[in-house]
Amino acid sequence: MGGSKKPHFGIDAPDLVRAFLLAGMALASASVGIFVFAPPVLGVWIGIIVLIPAVYALFMFALMIRGSLVDKVRDAEAILDLHEWKGSEQVLDVGCGRGLMLIGAARRLTTGRAVGVDVWSANDQSANVPDAPIENARLVGVSDRVVVETADARHLPFEDGSFDVVSSSWVVHNLENAGDRLLALKEMVRVTRPSGTILLTDIVNRHEYVSAMKGMALEDVRLVVLSPGRDRFLSAVSFGSFQPATVFARRTDHEVG
Ligand SMILES: C[S@@+](CC[C@H](N)C(=O)[O-])C[C@H]1O[C@@H](n2cnc3c(N)ncnc32)[C@H](O)[C@@H]1O
Repeated sequence: MGGSKKPHFGIDAPDLVRAFLLAGMALASASVGIFVFAPPVLGVWIGIIVLIPAVYALFMFALMIRGSLVDKVRDAEAILDLHEWKGSEQVLDVGCGRGLMLIGAARRLTTGRAVGVDVWSANDQSANVPDAPIENARLVGVSDRVVVETADARHLPFEDGSFDVVSSSWVVHNLENAGDRLLALKEMVRVTRPSGTILLTDIVNRHEYVSAMKGMALEDVRLVVLSPGRDRFLSAVSFGSFQPATVFARRTDHEVG
């Protein structure tokens, strides 16, 4: 580490996290008020009905905070370890945000370089600005291996086959249109060198990505679910809207026109 201050990789979807907290607190206060002031029996039943969504909202708030600060940070290491690192790789992290995967990759490099690109959306990650991954890289002591640029996942400003490893974490689902998501996947494949590795992690759309990528110039396309038990739990409590999974793929070892 470069110093005693630790890197901070941000809170994902900060507006949604705040909404869960505020809704949970408001509903919990309302249910206490109902328990105290409403007539007995009826008050208890209505209080319980209001308390259930309050508990759910506060539980989701805690789950999202823990997801950003603990689970995602630990998972990033396991996902990066799916690639056999030499240390000389050129790496691209698409939608790097505050640099979780970017810096994790840079820590595995010796002579290589890690490039992060992003459009810096404040809705998708807290305090999401280009200086954040640069500062985090400095704190971890890898600034000499990290470059940060502004670019959209659908139009990557790099030559074909420029990178040995292309990663992307919790980014592609932000593109609402399926055509845009396909474009982003195609761009990642295009800039990956023959035999290079793609590590695509996202919170939804796993089957869409696997099926699209199986039709591209890739081999060994496989879905990696780090913890099947946690996967089932997260899917159940979020009604299927939160299912983090990784698609691992390797670019075919010949150029495809
Ligand atoms: C949930 S954050 C994840 C950030 C980081 N990859 C991580 O795992 O901590 C999603 C990121 O995707 C970025 N993003 C959203 N749409 C994008 C696009 N079209 N091109 C590039 N980045 C995009 C956002 O700005 C944000 O930094």
